[in-house]
Amino acid sequence: KEMLRQQLVDVYGVPLFYTIAEAWSQVEGFEARTDDLLITTYPKSGTTWVSEILDLIYNNGDVEKCKRDAIFNRIPLMELIVRESINGIKKLGEMKSPRLVKTHLSVELLPSSLWKNNCKMIYVARNAKDVAVSYYYFYKTAKMHPDPGTWEEFLEKFMTGKVSFGSWYDHVKGWWEKKKDYRILYLFYEDMKEDPKRELLKILKFLEKDLPEEIVNKILYHTSFEIMKDNPTTNYTMVPEDEMDHKISPFMRKGISGDWKNHFTVAQYERFEKHYNQQMEGTTLKFRSEI
Ligand code: PPS
Repeated sequence: KEMLRQQLVDVYGVPLFYTIAEAWSQVEGFEARTDDLLITTYPKSGTTWVSEILDLIYNNGDVEKCKRDAIFNRIPLMELIVRESINGIKKLGEMKSPRLVKTHLSVELLPSSLWKNNCKMIYVARNAKDVAVSYYYFYKTAKMHPDPGTWEEFLEKFMTGKVSFGSWYDHVKGWWEKKKDYRILYLFYEDMKEDPKRELLKILKFLEKDLPEEIVNKILYHTSFEIMKDNPTTNYTMVPEDEMDHKISPFMRKGISGDWKNHFTVAQYERFEKHYNQQMEGTTLKFRSEI
């Protein structure tokens, strides 16, 4: 099992899986199409949730159609290159338009064709402390990550950006700034939890698409945490056991805001907040304070 664990390698200052770094020229050469929709997130921020919503929108709420394959095959992670059979660039190259494309890359690393084609992009941000907790479990579950160490050790790595896909702070700020010049809808996980219908309607408006109320409600039902947790095409149980140890933690773990309160000690919280305020100083990007 441990053989699957990958080293992280710096690509322009961002730690990425070794196999992605090795194949970086393929990633850089990704050929975007003008009608691609990019789903972009820092890991563990609600990617799968918004991806399922979008696939259902693209298929007018046809639930059976959206069970045609596992979510990671329907909406491939563009930069994921692990071996011959797992290659996001290749898989997307074979897909019909219009494509839904997933990425966790920071703005600096995004292949230039996506900017040049002025593709529409949906960014989902989630509060840092919940992301850190969710990422810790994912590091333990998904064997392609390096060993996370203890929670205390992982939190340190998270704060210093020494985790796969780099600094959360740089990621959320970088995409926030790009919003000024590109067609980016910037969503928050916490807003989706608070009022999923309001956020779904924002997505429809951004896509300039109308759906009957009844289909909207059907999509909301099928993308609730409970239903997605039971759906084998969205809950990642189709990933082989040796690559993801679902016994350690299910991919659909808790799906709530504020779970960090069950993990941070008071000392960790205080240190984190101080560091957070330094990192987020000067940006107009604000996360809800009550989470
Ligand atoms: S990944 O691996 O980066 O693509 O993961 P990602 O999908 O971004 O994040 C996984 C977390 O999102 C939660 N999740 C949801 N929450 C609420 N509603 C729905 N429908 C939903 N689907 C996924 C999932 O449970 C992970 O969060 P945690 O906190 O670990 O439960």
